[in-house]
This record gives sequence, structure tokens and C-alpha cells, in this order.
Amino acid sequence: MLPFESEALREVVWWRYVGSAEGQAKWHAHIIVFFMEQRPSLRRCEELPWHLRKCRKWTTLRNVLVDLRTFDVMYNGEQIKGGLFSYWRALVRGPLYMSDEIEASIVLQSSNPHEPELLAEFSSRVYNASGPRTGSSDALQKVGASKSSAILTKSATLLPQTGNPLPRTYTSPTFSINSEGLPNKSIEYYIDGETIRESVGETGKPYFVSISGKSLEDNVEMMKLICKAPGVAGIELNLACPNVIGHPIIAYDMTQLRTVLKTVKSLKLSLPIGIKLPPYFDFIHYQQAAEIINEYNSTIDYIVTMNTVGNTLMLSPYSNEPVISPKGGYGGLSGPAVKPIALAQVRKFYSLLDSSIDIVGVGGVQSGQDVYDMVLCGAKMVQVGTCHWIEGANCFDRIVEEFEGILERKGVKDLEEIRGKLKDWSKAGAAIDRKGRKLEPKTAVGGAGGGKFQSTLDDRAFLLLACGVVVFTQVLCALLAQALGHLDVPWLAQLMDNLKK
Ligand SMILES: Cc1cc2nc3c(=O)[nH]c(=O)nc-3n(C[C@H](O)[C@H](O)[C@H](O)COP(=O)(O)O)c2cc1C
Repeated sequence: MLPFESEALREVVWWRYVGSAEGQAKWHAHIIVFFMEQRPSLRRCEELPWHLRKCRKWTTLRNVLVDLRTFDVMYNGEQIKGGLFSYWRALVRGPLYMSDEIEASIVLQSSNPHEPELLAEFSSRVYNASGPRTGSSDALQKVGASKSSAILTKSATLLPQTGNPLPRTYTSPTFSINSEGLPNKSIEYYIDGETIRESVGETGKPYFVSISGKSLEDNVEMMKLICKAPGVAGIELNLACPNVIGHPIIAYDMTQLRTVLKTVKSLKLSLPIGIKLPPYFDFIHYQQAAEIINEYNSTIDYIVTMNTVGNTLMLSPYSNEPVISPKGGYGGLSGPAVKPIALAQVRKFYSLLDSSIDIVGVGGVQSGQDVYDMVLCGAKMVQVGTCHWIEGANCFDRIVEEFEGILERKGVKDLEEIRGKLKDWSKAGAAIDRKGRKLEPKTAVGGAGGGKFQSTLDDRAFLLLACGVVVFTQVLCALLAQALGHLDVPWLAQLMDNLKK
């Protein structure tokens, strides 16, 4: 209620009188009760829908908006007419499909007064990455039914495509390589009302569409189509696919990156937009990319980092040939092995990007600990790709539960307490690390956390070692016995005789 220029004052008031998500919900509820008792005035029409939206009281919001007097005031009120349409847009994008039961179970999530609307919609920090198990409404429906906080589609192209020739994927316990070449059912399918309804169901989860056009013109056309489609919460523009034959990775070419963002800005899209980036390795490249993205901070809501590590190669030791067929065997690397690369992306961009641009971390996440690490480096949301591919949509339940367990153990109440708070290396920290390592079970990929990727390599090594020790002891005993038989030690001979008796 304070004017916008008083941002600092607003913050002080928030911390003094509101202080938490529960406090915020309580005050919204008070104001709602107050306005519900009033007759529709300009002030009521301006404030009541806003508070209802904040509290996710969708059914009440709908009832308020369809009240004829309220509609009349809002439609004819020059300054709030836009608001009327935006509330309707928000309602038909998902919440209206929710049952009252689900609506009642949803509590106000945002505890940060300045948290962008987009992120306030999310019920947890974890959702699916574009690609694995995201090509059809059947697969997306499974994501929606899990603890994934949102639903993100496979990267779409203007027309359907089958992708590169098979075999185009390879998985191992510690990494995967793929050169799928964006097989997908086309933008028309992913923005179709039926696809969205089937995918979202009654969950009311935000539905995002990823696009990866063959040209800038294709991307522009797809973005315009998405903005016209009801039920889509945002766009993820993939500027990082390494697997389309004959197409370079856009975001490695800074001139192209700038052109793309300039074009996106000129479109004045009505939906939030994120850009998906490839991994960078040289600090200068991070800096160049961040500078360009910062120039468009009013256009770009968030970045998603990172796509696969492009053009890697794996051979079969049996055939001495690459393990996948397209592009001479070169493919994008993903899975646990890329986690350190992904953490570095999130950390570096967190330090370089304007704070208005959120960071979604993706790469090698397979456990609650991995999510925690991403948040510590600065990620606001975390996506899961390869682990979802291998383990199925149940992975979201496991990962979210593990993450919540870690937060509870550490007494973290609000993620902002830890987000981006990674400390520098210290001697004291190293000592804690050594202690911690001694306590935790060893895993092939290092670090704590569960997941199917935790290889049984260590178990096998342990078994092998145990067998070795047994065999070695037996051989030693046999040699000793033989040596003792040849020695002329009277008391030993006596002992052996007694033992034989
Ligand atoms: C089989 C497969 C297909 C993928 N397809 C897409 C895609 O269509 N669009 C996209 O932006 N990223 C795609 N990715 C990249 C993932 O979204 C993710 O950025 C990358 O795999 C790193 O995360 P991860 O280690 O959790 O898999 C794909 C990854 C895999 C393994």
C-alpha cells in the first residue's frame, strides 16, 4: 500500500509487521475480509482481486470478477482495465481447472516480498528439464503428478521432426551422451489446449514451453503463437542445442546472442521468458554473455544454465567405434559427471547477472544434496534431466523429499537464507569437510545423496578387497605351516605333536 518510491520503507514495514509467509497470508486474509464486506468501488476493485491472486483464492477471484458491478467498474476504469484482463488470463491459464480440494491444499508460497510472480507460482524449487520424457502429454502428465513444481515441454520446432538416426543416446552410471537432434511433435502440439489440459490435469502447476527453432524467424513465430495460447505460464528459449546437424550453438556467438535478445525485446511478449544457455568455460566468455543478457534485463526474466556439454565422444572398447551414430559419434554430455560444470555456471552467472534475472540451475542433479548445492551457488530453481530420464518421474518425489530433509536438518526456514551464500574455502571448512567425509558412505561419484546413479562400484571394490584378504591370509597360513614343518624348533615340534593328538 506504500507508494513505489518508498521501496526501502516498504521493506522495513514488511520485516517489522509481516516477517514471514504466514504473516503475509494473515494480512492478505484480513484485507480480503475487509474488502469483501464493501460495495464495489474503484478502490475495492483495484485491491481485492490483487490480494485474492496473492492468496491463490482462485474461485473467490473468479466470483468477484464475474460480479456485474465489479466488472463494470473494472472494465470502465482506465487504469484497472488491464488488470481485469490479466486476472482472467491468469485464471484460464490453469487455476480454473483446479478442484476446490487442491485449491484448499495450496498455501501461499512466497516469503520474499519482491519475489517475481513467476517464481511465486512454484510450490517447490525442483522441476523437469526440457528433453528427457517431455515429448508427449502422457510423459508430461507423469511429471505433473509428481512433486515436480512445474511442467516443461520438450524443445519444440515449428514443424514436427523425428530427430537424428539411431542409436543416438548412450547412458552409463556416471554420464550420458545424446545426439537426439530435437525429435518433437511441433509447437502446435505443445500449445494445444488438449495437450496442456492432459499434462496439467487438476494440479494447477505452471506449464512452460521450450522452443528451439531452426532460425530466428522460426523462434519469433513460435513465441508469438505461445503468447496467444491460453494455459502457458512462460517460454524457455533454447539457445544452446549442440545436436542439430549443421546448426551452431547460438549462445556461443555473442553477436547472434545480442541479435536474438534484441529481437525478443522488440516483440514485447506478454509471457515471462527464460533463455537456456550452453556451458561456458572461459571467464571472459561468461562475462561477455552476462553483459549482453544484462543489457536486456527488462526482457529476460531468467536464464537456464546449462544445456549439455556439446560435442563429446565416447568409444566402445569392444568395437573401437563411437557409442552413438549421428555426427560421427559426437554428442552432448549430461548426468552426474557434469555437475561441477553446472555449479560453476550457476555460481559465475550469479555473480555477474543483475539480481532481477533469476537463475535456474540444471546439470547432473540427482539428489537433494545436488539441489542444495545449486541453491548455495545462487540458483532460484533447479531442473532435473538425465536422472528423470533414467529413474522416471518418481525421481522428483525422492529429490524434493531429500532436499526438504536437508533443509530441516540444517534448520533452514527460508531459502533466501542460503541462496548464493557459498563461502570461500577456509582451513576450518576443510577440517569440517574431512570429518564429514569420514562419516558418509563412499560413492563412486563422490558426495552425499541418493539416486540410481550412485554406482555399486564401491561395493564391488569392497567385495573384491575382502576376497583378496581372505585368499592372501590362506596362502600365508599355508606357507607358514610349510615353513614351520621344515624348522627344527623343539618346543614347536612338541606343540604340533600335541595338537595332532
Ligand atoms: C536425451 C536428452 C534430450 C535433451 N533434449 C533437450 C531439449 O530438447 N531441449 C533442451 O533445452 N535441452 C535438452 N536436453 C538438455 C537437458 O535439458 C539438460 O540441460 C542437460 O541434460 C543437463 O542436465 P542433466 O545433467 O540433469 O541431464 C536434453 C538432454 C538429454 C539427456
